[in-house]
Amino acid sequence: MLFKVNEDFSSPWTFQGLIVGIISILFSSAQGSIEPQNEAVELGGNVSLRCVLKETLEVTQVTWQKKIDGNFDNIGTYGKGKNQTINNGYKGKVNIRVLELKETAITFWNVSIQENACYRCIFNTLTGPISKEPCLDVYDHLRSFLHYRISDGHLNATCFATGLPRPNISWVPARGEKTENEIINPNGTLSVISSILVNTSDSQYAQDLICKVSHRGVEREFKVPMKEKAHWSPVPIVITVSILIIVIVISGTIVLCRRRHRKKRGF
Ligand SMILES: *[C@@H]1O[C@H](CO)[C@@H](O)[C@H](O)[C@H]1NC(C)=O
Ligand SMILES: *[C@@H]1O[C@H](CO)[C@@H](O)[C@H](O)[C@H]1NC(C)=O
Ligand SMILES: *[C@@H]1O[C@H](CO)[C@@H](O)[C@H](O)[C@H]1NC(C)=O
Ligand SMILES: *[C@@H]1O[C@H](CO)[C@@H](O)[C@H](O)[C@H]1NC(C)=O
Ligand SMILES: *[C@@H]1O[C@H](CO)[C@@H](O)[C@H](O)[C@H]1NC(C)=O
Ligand SMILES: *[C@@H]1O[C@H](CO)[C@@H](O)[C@H](O)[C@H]1NC(C)=O
Repeated sequence: MLFKVNEDFSSPWTFQGLIVGIISILFSSAQGSIEPQNEAVELGGNVSLRCVLKETLEVTQVTWQKKIDGNFDNIGTYGKGKNQTINNGYKGKVNIRVLELKETAITFWNVSIQENACYRCIFNTLTGPISKEPCLDVYDHLRSFLHYRISDGHLNATCFATGLPRPNISWVPARGEKTENEIINPNGTLSVISSILVNTSDSQYAQDLICKVSHRGVEREFKVPMKEKAHWSPVPIVITVSILIIVIVISGTIVLCRRRHRKKRGF
């Protein structure tokens, strides 16, 4: 009987179901359920993880733990009629709140990479403990830029991307000689540095080169445009500036010479 109802759990509410539901709550109240909420938070931000008991049960104590390498480390507890206790290592970093012993929240301030983990909230009831594991997803927004230069018949373009989780860099077209390096920053973010070397005599050089950076479902593009490449090349700039200087010097000399000539004629 109970077996059948469990199977048809999503079917419309029936009188039979109601009876069985009441019976099962009476006989196994420790199987109450919790609605956990996962949260995403930016590095340095504040965040609360919350657990809400769906049934009204007699709760005597609420405990929060942190999952470290598959084991659970006690963060702190909150007992009925007692103050909260926060264990060493978590003091000053977190706060546990309990609302009517039916809802509990743990708040983290100035979140660092160390808080990127799953946690466990445990409601101790008269009939046994009920727990759930909400997770915290710590991220850092993307910082990226492109740098390129042309020398010795080669275009060297480098894309820099820093973020958490690790950003991905790809090049379009995906030809040329590529090198990629990765740095783990002290704050836990990852920097990816991807360089591409293209021979300016090759036919592939005629196409625009695009650096694509993807991070947390967002894609950013940086273009090395063909026209700009010519502009940014130092050789034409040097030639233009040299010609300008020569023209100025020559015209200046001519003007000066003419003036002197006129003055001499005039007197
Ligand atoms: C985090 O909380 C602290 C203390 O309440 C506050 O000073 C700070 O501005 C908050 N930071 C953010 C990013 O909201
Ligand atoms: C936040 O934490 C970082 C290191 O994790 C620290 O450098 C910074 O001073 C902290 N900021 C505040 C406002 O406590
Ligand atoms: C390309 O440029 C990057 C950054 O400026 C540099 O680290 C790298 O060595 C250069 N590669 C070549 C082959 O010159
Ligand atoms: C983390 O470190 C990287 C590299 O030093 C830096 O660019 C970034 O701004 C830092 N993030 C935060 C939130 O401080
Ligand atoms: C660049 O490509 C051209 C033609 O493909 C070739 O002749 C030249 O040697 C290459 N330059 C370098 C530095 O590899
Ligand atoms: C980066 O690329 C790899 C494989 O292409 C993928 O598994 C991973 O999720 C990507 N990471 C991000 C942050 O997009």
